[in-house]
Amino acid sequence: MGKDVIVACDFASAQQTLAFLDRFDSCGRKPFVKIGMELFYAEGPAIVREIKARGHKIFLDLKLHDIPNTVKKAMAVLSRLDVDLCNLHAAGTREMMTAALEGLTRPDGTRPLLIAVTQLTSTDQTALERDLLIHAPIDEVVLHYAQTARDAGLDGVVCSPLESEKVHARCGAQFLTVTPGVRFADGDKGDQKRVMTPAQAKIAGSDYIVVGRPITAAADPVAAYERCITEFVD
Ligand code: C5P
Repeated sequence: MGKDVIVACDFASAQQTLAFLDRFDSCGRKPFVKIGMELFYAEGPAIVREIKARGHKIFLDLKLHDIPNTVKKAMAVLSRLDVDLCNLHAAGTREMMTAALEGLTRPDGTRPLLIAVTQLTSTDQTALERDLLIHAPIDEVVLHYAQTARDAGLDGVVCSPLESEKVHARCGAQFLTVTPGVRFADGDKGDQKRVMTPAQAKIAGSDYIVVGRPITAAADPVAAYERCITEFVD
């Protein structure tokens, strides 16, 4: 699996998103695009079809979590949308993840890649214990969820680039780590606390980096994207 930069298109409308992607017409490569809940719930499957028709790969970041039968049927719909990568919450259990894979697999045996969210980076040890009654150290919880995802047959996890190495050590080098929390060395961190540069994420072994504002809010988004490619892929 080749390394790539996924651009988080966290825009509120199709119009804004497509105008943003138009700017990449001059660029030698089509960015891999992440569509999240905000854009998908605003614009529906049409925005996925439109971006796909323009030749982009798509990570549909909807983080499914429901009973196995419901997730299986929803994944079958996403598979017909022809997305390249999608995700769910590992907290839905191994049975839910297995059902998701069944739903995602097309009649010809192909399927989009499926990765798991372990613990959200917004959850800390205090919330884990107080709200979820989970008393293991959060690092161990993340690795255990990653291992459960791997045992269920998933392709990888979303995690911090700071966790890529540990996830690979526990789950194998082939198990994908898709990592947000990336910032340029001379850039603004925004609300991300634990960050790495694209070059550091490459050294840490991340397979894909997910980059939003350092590209979407840049004065020259294409140059910022190309900088990510140079640091992380080339
Ligand atoms: O703008 P920024 O580079 O921080 O965007 C990162 C993207 O990755 C956003 O779409 C955000 O929702 C997503 N993400 C994250 N941290 C996670 C999971 C997803 O930042 N743990």
